[in-house]
Amino acid sequence: ARTAAVIPAAGRGVRLGPGTPKALRALGGTPMLVHAVRAMAASRAVSLIVVVAPPDGAAEVSRLLHEHPLPERTDLEVVPGGQTRQESVRLGLAALPDTIDVVLVHDAARPLVPVETVDAVVAAVRGGAPAVVPALPLADTVKQVDPQPQGSPEPVVGTPERALLRAVQTPQGFDLATLRKAHDTVVEGEGATDDAGLVERLGSPVVVVPGHEEAFKVTRPLDLVLAEAVLARRRA
Ligand code: C5P
Repeated sequence: ARTAAVIPAAGRGVRLGPGTPKALRALGGTPMLVHAVRAMAASRAVSLIVVVAPPDGAAEVSRLLHEHPLPERTDLEVVPGGQTRQESVRLGLAALPDTIDVVLVHDAARPLVPVETVDAVVAAVRGGAPAVVPALPLADTVKQVDPQPQGSPEPVVGTPERALLRAVQTPQGFDLATLRKAHDTVVEGEGATDDAGLVERLGSPVVVVPGHEEAFKVTRPLDLVLAEAVLARRRA
């Protein structure tokens, strides 16, 4: 089985504050996207990485990535992305050659995922699971609410049993044919916030394997502080 990784990196990162697209912001002096690409290339299973760049930024991203060489076994391609994450992933999948049969989809915004997690996801797909997500138990209790206009208190509708919930990370791993079918079948705007969610809508099984604390998503300013601290600890 040949395995590729698609890295959607076309988001603007609005929640992180104003500035350059999130994936291009520096972490320990190196763009977040470069960390994410290296994290995928660290797995010996991954032979091709497709980075999905901001729609008008493919040339810039390509130039940037070529300044940071990868292991020789890993090919790299950069394609322009779309307006939503789902569209960006679909454009990335379209760039994969027929020789690929397993695909990882990994957020550029999760730059510090350890290679052990990547390898565990690949192993589970190669072991026969068509869709695999790394995930962790929740620290917080979660409430479902009835959303109200900003500022108004929101009535609580229910409290799902925390022990049954998992917070989902990436890379998510798939049999490529299964993920392509999911992206071709499920209509944009139906609210799937991850790729496995599209596969679930097909009625295909999705399984969870243990995720990793360091695979957290850099979304808000505080996450940058944590990411810098993790990097500093690794370098110590
Ligand atoms: O917005 P969110 O945090 O869910 O984004 C997850 C990943 O999807 C990020 O790596 C982001 O760059 C990517 N994305 C994308 N195209 C978009 C929106 C988000 O590739 N239009």
